[in-house]
Parts: sequence; structure tokens; C-alpha cells
Amino acid sequence: MGEPIVIALDGTSASGKSTNAKRVAKALDYAYVDTGAMYRSLAWYCLEKEVDLGDAKAIASLCRRWKTELKNDDGHIRLYVDGYFPEKEIRTAETSAAVPVVAAVPAVRKWMKAKQRECIEFGDLVMEGRDIGSNVFPDTDYKFYLDASLDERSKRRAADGVDENLAERDKQDSQRAAAPLMIPLGAKVINNSEMTAEETSALIISEVQEKLEAAG
Ligand code: DC
Repeated sequence: MGEPIVIALDGTSASGKSTNAKRVAKALDYAYVDTGAMYRSLAWYCLEKEVDLGDAKAIASLCRRWKTELKNDDGHIRLYVDGYFPEKEIRTAETSAAVPVVAAVPAVRKWMKAKQRECIEFGDLVMEGRDIGSNVFPDTDYKFYLDASLDERSKRRAADGVDENLAERDKQDSQRAAAPLMIPLGAKVINNSEMTAEETSALIISEVQEKLEAAG
């Protein structure tokens, strides 16, 4: 058996990364990794431990010390913190506001990259994030970058009951010095403003299958 295959799914907030990554993972029977959830977990943990978010050294220090473990929950690879997966806590407005700050700390990104690369121990993966094709698995042949208009993405977030300033989040993600959001070299860009999730995931799956066949 060769190296596990990694499908890197990057893109802007609310561009449909999670929905499509889950659909593609299910269709191909690959494990699914939400790297945003990993950054969110650290942001939540910083809030729990009352770390000053203005102090990058304190954030980096907590990241080096926290006790974590990757587990495969029914095809979803999750990062457990002190034996617990903070599923609800990582989606609160407070955590959402803290996560871009935490995600901009270079030592955090280094830690996350190593942890995310460990995920191949679970086999073939669909990994969604902001820097997967550009930084975490730059050598993969399976890179996709999702985007949609700001208007459409704002509607999607609102439909999920989440009130978030997406323009501000995009700016923070794209302008940070460490591993900013960008279109990875060689990625297929899919603007799905006028596409359904069925259409978007079918497009990704057919691209992957074509490449897998070509690779023999
Ligand atoms: O996809 P999400 O909204 O759950 O991501 C939360 C935050 O984490 C967002 O501000 C971008 C950041 N993130 C990142 O910097 N790199 C990743 N690979 C994944 C997420």
C-alpha cells in the first residue's frame, strides 16, 4: 500500500468547506479532519485558562503544554483536550472571536501543522482548513479552494443562525504573516455561489477519481 491520499480543501469562511469535505469523505470512505475545530479548541482552552489573548508567548506556551489526543470518531478525526472534545464550546461567539488571534501565533501554527500531519496515521483523508494545500500538505496532488460571494456566504452563515463578520474574518485570515489564507499552488478553484452542495461535492469527487485513475 502506498502513502495515504490527502484531499486538501481550503477556502474562505462559509464557502462550504465543512459540508463538502464531509460529503466527499463519506463518498470515498476517507476520514474527515476539520482543522478549524483544532484552532477553535485551542482558542476555547485559552479562554478557559484565562490566558491573555494579547500575549502571544502565553498562548504559545499553553499550546506546548496542553494534553491532547487525536481520535477517530466514526470517520471524524477529532482532537481531544484533557480527554474531552469541546464540540459545543468551540462554536460560541466568544470562541469564534478569539480563534483568529490564536491562529496567527507562529508557534501555534507550527504545532498544528505537526498535529495535522499526524492524522495520516488514520489513512486516506479529506482535510479542510485555510493552509492545508499551501502549508500542511503542500505535496498532495489533490487540492481544492472553495469560495463564494460575500453576500452568498453571509446568507449561509445567517441560515446556520450564526452572526459573524465574514469580511473581517477573511481579512484576518488572509493578512496574517504566518501561513495566511491563499489559493494553494495547483489547487482547483471552485466558486460555488450558484452551486448546490451536491454539485460542488460531485465536482470534487469526479476530479479526484480522474486523478486517481490517471495515477494508476
Ligand atoms: O473554519 P473555521 O471557521 O472553523 O476556522 C476557524 C478559524 O481558524 C478561522 O479564523 C481560520 C482559522 N484556521 C486557520 O487559520 N487555519 C486552518 N487550517 C483552519 C482554520
